Amino acid sequence: MMFDFATTSPNNRYKLLTATVVPRPIAWVVTQDAQGGINMAPFSFFNAFSSNPPVLGVSIGGPHTDKDTLANIRATGQFVVCLVPESAVHAMNITAIDLPPEVDEMAEAKLTPVPSSLVKPPRVAESPVAFECQTHQLVPLGGNTLVLGTILAAHVQDDCVLDAAKCYVDTPKLGLIGRMHGGGGYARTTDIINVPRIPLADWQARDKG
Ligand SMILES: Cc1cc2nc3c(=O)[nH]c(=O)nc-3n(C[C@H](O)[C@H](O)[C@H](O)COP(=O)(O)O)c2cc1C
Repeated sequence: MMFDFATTSPNNRYKLLTATVVPRPIAWVVTQDAQGGINMAPFSFFNAFSSNPPVLGVSIGGPHTDKDTLANIRATGQFVVCLVPESAVHAMNITAIDLPPEVDEMAEAKLTPVPSSLVKPPRVAESPVAFECQTHQLVPLGGNTLVLGTILAAHVQDDCVLDAAKCYVDTPKLGLIGRMHGGGGYARTTDIINVPRIPLADWQARDKG
């Protein structure tokens, strides 16, 4: 079935995209307002886009007014993206509640702030991976704003680092989850299929015996 997006409502486009672009990693974004008040919320329109320069992107919606996360990023230019392990899924869900700007979602969800090294917003101890970011570019997308962030530093939980010199990470041990379809669907990242890349020479030699 073909859905012509020119005649599909924004709400139905959202349903088609979020039911099919799965699983999506979740950026659990920590920001601070100009007074230092902490804010935290999850965003699954998220991915990494470049390693040199190191850039990630988070798309934040809100057709009428900025969500607190976006307002804080506009005001300070700094944020921390934490990744979500299964053990923190319920805390993450609490931080998605539309609480007033002055409420610290991190405290509300009983999470533990850890000071960042290069930016003011903290990361959370309950997340095994965190990226300290500064705004690279804000791209207006109608009802959403795509926040592109330059990654200044990455934190990986010590017992999930296999070889620090080689930057090898024990990915399954991170226990991260991804966003699936429906109101509350999530996927684990521990069900792996290994498909090694095919060297060009092997591909070209496949019929030559
Ligand atoms: C798993 C999950 C993923 C979400 N992804 C997005 C997203 O990509 N973009 C968005 O604008 N809101 C997303 N939300 C909703 C925000 O988390 C929610 O609006 C939150 O209250 C925003 O908080 P803030 O106003 O403190 O920034 C998501 C919620 C959940 C639970």
